[in-house]
Amino acid sequence: MVSPIEEELINTEHNNSLFEAEVRKLPLLAYSIFKKGNQVAPADFKETKIALNSCNEPSFKEAFSDLLKSPSVILEAVKSLAPPILNKRVAVLFSGGPAAGGHNVILGIKNVLGKDNILYGIKGGPKGLLDGNLFEIKDEDLNRVTNLGGFDFLGSDRTKIKSKEQFEKVREVVKKFHLNGLIIIGGDDSNTNAAFLAEYLYADGCAVVGVPKTIDGDLQIGAILPISFGFDTATKVYAELVGNILQDTPSSRKYWHFIKLMGRSASHVALEVALQTKPAITFISEEVEEAKITLSQIIDILAKTILARAAKSINHGAVLVPEGLIEFIPDLKDLIKELNDLFGKYQIELDKLDLAKKVDFASGKLTNEALLVFNILPFEIKKMLVMDRDSHGNLQVSKIPTESLLIEMVEKRISEIQADPKKIIELNLECDREDLVKVQEFRFNHISHFFGYEGRCGVPTKFDATYTYNLGLIAGSLAIKGKTGYMAAFTDLASGGKALAIPLAALLNSEIRQGKEEFVIEKALVKTNSPAFQFFKERRDAWAKEDCFASPGPRQLWGPTANQMPFTVILNQGYQELDFTVK
Ligand code: FBP
Repeated sequence: MVSPIEEELINTEHNNSLFEAEVRKLPLLAYSIFKKGNQVAPADFKETKIALNSCNEPSFKEAFSDLLKSPSVILEAVKSLAPPILNKRVAVLFSGGPAAGGHNVILGIKNVLGKDNILYGIKGGPKGLLDGNLFEIKDEDLNRVTNLGGFDFLGSDRTKIKSKEQFEKVREVVKKFHLNGLIIIGGDDSNTNAAFLAEYLYADGCAVVGVPKTIDGDLQIGAILPISFGFDTATKVYAELVGNILQDTPSSRKYWHFIKLMGRSASHVALEVALQTKPAITFISEEVEEAKITLSQIIDILAKTILARAAKSINHGAVLVPEGLIEFIPDLKDLIKELNDLFGKYQIELDKLDLAKKVDFASGKLTNEALLVFNILPFEIKKMLVMDRDSHGNLQVSKIPTESLLIEMVEKRISEIQADPKKIIELNLECDREDLVKVQEFRFNHISHFFGYEGRCGVPTKFDATYTYNLGLIAGSLAIKGKTGYMAAFTDLASGGKALAIPLAALLNSEIRQGKEEFVIEKALVKTNSPAFQFFKERRDAWAKEDCFASPGPRQLWGPTANQMPFTVILNQGYQELDFTVK
């Protein structure tokens, strides 16, 4: 016999918590040009005066001869007065890591296609496309996932479509389902794939459109693409967790927390979380590379800051470590580049070896300089560095415990300093004799964390929920209007919005991946001259000296702080408002 309260609890199964049930009811806000009565309708696109510089290499011009027939200018979506579009068939897939808001992109596409066109969902990402794993999405299918996080409605994967056979397979699927449009929701690598597919399917009349997704924030292009979706939700989740940890530190008064934050190569996530929470130390990989700060100097910075705080009886703090830091430390960067090239050259041999044997194999092939660095690393880190690259050639930085490497090394450095009074004096800690005793007696208690997967699939913030819905409206419009080779973008976020389409081919640059030249969308890294970084740089010494932290709390979907945008976006875009608006 089930009691009424037990029944109520059972009813919350399958994404039906009281919270999720309320979130589903939140309205989907469409930008005005898409509104038609109570419904939405596709927009038209007109050329703007904003032109992008495409790559000039002859091999590039040959590879993208069809897409380059259109000028490399940004398009702006405008209200359409054209008669309704009928009988178009569009398919959509998720590619790469999940990011909050993906389901609302699909809702935007579905709503803008309306009842007279068909939307197919592709299950399991690019691999599902190759396998022809398509199904027709019905309105009622989407009710369950409206405003909810995750990519579970379709699933995702990281297959790179690169061989002639794979491209041909895609063409077969396009023909089989009579597709007029294919929408790829993904990051820089997936949008690179979208550009190649747009070129390949040009003559087939299938418009390929990209949607900028990634929690990493490394798919952003100044004022025309302020941020990718998922970044706001992920950083707000991490900022809540970091804020809670910071609040714990002066309460328990004994721990140093080393927190690695996801974000792949770029440090946008770490910078955003630092601006939200103000911890004692945050490393920004791009600055480390630019200022050529070696691993040993990083350890010096850590040891000095930790001991300077100990001199003031502050025996606690937190350090934010961007996931990709290890790739930017100059001595390690050269080593990783050599390892990546080895992967390109000896892929077949390496595929047959287990991790320990890969370490031996790599040791035998590295130059003397790289080997010296490789040899000072703990075996666990060595193993992670020789792990398989992902299908796009990226080192899997989320699996490398950089936070533990730093802890191990700084612990050793602190003991060496404490053992030698001369070394304590050399630190110039600006403190008296009594304080020096505190430094000597300080015990380094540390805890490591990795916040990554926790932030990718949470219920989207209001910003991500609205942003993604509008990206879906733009992408769906592009697909049924036959505008191929564009990425949907939504800008002017503090003043009501603007819907744009960015030519994908113009974003491609030549890059060496695993020893080979490839045309790819370059990852947007943190610029050290950006307003967000400069603001952080001005404030960080104060945050290091004493506790200045803030705890931003959980993300809000109702109430006064619900519409707040990421601080890095506000500062870098020069917005004068904290909140986004869509008019
Ligand atoms: P995308 O670039 O595909 O958006 O992936 C983001 C990310 O979460 C990175 O921050 C992280 O390094 C990586 O995915 C982890 O990959 P996986 O999901 O394969 O473990």
